[in-house]
Amino acid sequence: MARDYHVDRVKSGIQGFDELIEGGFPRGTTVLVTGPTGSGKTTFGVQFVYKGVELYNEPGVIVTLEERAQDLRREMKAFGWDIEKYEEEGKLAIIDGVSSVVGLPSEEKFVLENNLNVGDFLRYLYRVVKAINAQRLLIDSIPSIAFRLKEEQNIRNVLLQLNTILLEMGVTSILTTEAPDLAHGKISRYGMEEYIARGVILFDFMERNVELKRYLLIRKMRETKHQMKKFPFEITEEGIVVYPSGEVY
Ligand SMILES: Nc1ncnc2c1ncn2[C@@H]1O[C@H](COP(=O)(O)OP(=O)(O)O)[C@@H](O)[C@H]1O
Ligand SMILES: [Mg+2]
Repeated sequence: MARDYHVDRVKSGIQGFDELIEGGFPRGTTVLVTGPTGSGKTTFGVQFVYKGVELYNEPGVIVTLEERAQDLRREMKAFGWDIEKYEEEGKLAIIDGVSSVVGLPSEEKFVLENNLNVGDFLRYLYRVVKAINAQRLLIDSIPSIAFRLKEEQNIRNVLLQLNTILLEMGVTSILTTEAPDLAHGKISRYGMEEYIARGVILFDFMERNVELKRYLLIRKMRETKHQMKKFPFEITEEGIVVYPSGEVY
């Protein structure tokens, strides 16, 4: 019997991925992408925002706290993604959260000041999201924003406030975090990011014939039927490609 309920899906723009989650992320959801360094978290998040503009005409905001905006733009050109073009068209905005920390002047349009408190950060984020009517958001990464805020000691509170404002804005968001101790079942830096997220995707490597292969696992996705299986993916010259029928042993 057909269910009398419909979930509006946001297509990720990541090849092979949406069929793992019934066609896309539930609109307005917050998804945590967790994994070790180099596993592809930043690429995944930027691809989600960039393809949102390119394929679905949905403006997006990228908050970058680990790489300078200019480095991100340059790196993403390798995948054929011209971020600057969409910035000029007012469809994509990068918030530079790096320059002020390292004490460099920034020529960016959107810059996070140093020594912010969580309220200032969230108000700024809100303003930029509204300014371009963003539907998609990437915050890369949660540990880096937490370090920057005065309230790092109260990370739970920060996450709860962030979650509330994300839901309020209605944007579909990707938050990245690191998993320092994945082998022992710890999937996030603070052990609590996963509680505010309505979805959790885990990225990792696996050794196969003396080579490291990337895979992802969807640990949680509310309102979505998904398998709990490790799916291989690659970072190609067009960005991330997931293999939904591939096997990982
Ligand atoms: N142009 C490219 N083509 C293929 N792979 C790339 C390219 N650029 C980066 N990579 C791969 O992506 C990795 C970085 O991915 P990234 O998304 O920054 O990971 P994370 O954010 O999880 O640290 C690099 O270590 C490299 O293996
Ligand atoms: Mg990264």
